[in-house]
Amino acid sequence: MIVSTRELFKHCYGKYAIGAYNINNLEQAVGLFRGNLGKIKSNADPANPQVSAPFILQISRGARSYTDKRFLEAIIRAAEQVFPEAIFAVHLDHGTEEVCYDCIDSGFYTSVMIDASHEPFEKNVEITRRVVERAHEKGVVVEAELGQLGGVEEDVVADVKLTDPDQAAEFVERTGCDSLAVAIGTSHGVAKFTGTQGVRFDRLAEIQRRLPPGYPLVMHGASAVPWEWVERINRAGGALANTSGVPEDHYFKAAQMGVCKINIDTDGRLVWCAIYRESFRDKPEDFDPRTPGKAFMAAYAEYIIHKNKMLGSAGKLEEVRRFLAQA
Ligand code: G3H
Ligand code: 13P
Ligand code: ZN
Repeated sequence: MIVSTRELFKHCYGKYAIGAYNINNLEQAVGLFRGNLGKIKSNADPANPQVSAPFILQISRGARSYTDKRFLEAIIRAAEQVFPEAIFAVHLDHGTEEVCYDCIDSGFYTSVMIDASHEPFEKNVEITRRVVERAHEKGVVVEAELGQLGGVEEDVVADVKLTDPDQAAEFVERTGCDSLAVAIGTSHGVAKFTGTQGVRFDRLAEIQRRLPPGYPLVMHGASAVPWEWVERINRAGGALANTSGVPEDHYFKAAQMGVCKINIDTDGRLVWCAIYRESFRDKPEDFDPRTPGKAFMAAYAEYIIHKNKMLGSAGKLEEVRRFLAQA
């Protein structure tokens, strides 16, 4: 069942976070659905309520144009039928104004992100406000971003890009956005921190304090970049260096501070890369695309279960179902 993040956030606020996972293809979609229902090996396995979780499936502009957005949408619609127990939102990740309108008008997305965070404050407010108006007319919710991720290696310079708590309060009030992505020291990709840098929980606490009670925050760049997966990739011929990620025990701590949505893309790519590289290394005579594909779907499902345990969303699916039925 495709739902709005509005209800999901109401249920999880302050208690746990919902995983927002990027997908680009069929195998990622199937692994993601199986993982969120606790089905590791096969679509037909019984769902496991102990680990089943609500989730956000997010699609970037790159994912939409990788083949044709209609293929991805068709995969998701098919997944909704194959996995009728699943409860998830469909979200546009890092949208421009134009792509947001395309998704809002499509009637398929329940949530869009307008990312005008690279613009000056007033322009960001103006663009976000326009998208919010158009989205709300169609019942779609909007995530916006204030502050800028990345640049964490620049230390002092990086600090000026962190979200300003006073500006955050003004931004939310003036734009009417439904959730806010905040820059608190994380960045996208496999190299997030150097030296003593880390997630700025002090800044997160200030932002939460300035916003209305229960206002949902979003953490981007939240992959853990686990050493285990980096090593597996490198042992199978990869060349990833100077990697670092967000410690997974930070997820639950952030959730307790109002972070309702935690974005994870890179970790899924690492699982994909390790499994495919190992398959090609270990079975050089095999040229069947289904060999690495099957191994990946199973490994990804397991990894999603692990992630959801760290987010606190594992085992919450039936509670959310009851909550939605009452709403
Ligand atoms: O925030 C960026 C996401 O990881 C999506 O990456 O634009 O390469 O699909 P992408
Ligand atoms: P990672 O690169 O840390 O997975 O971040 C993903 C993200 O923020 C997608 O919007
Ligand atoms: Zn992001």
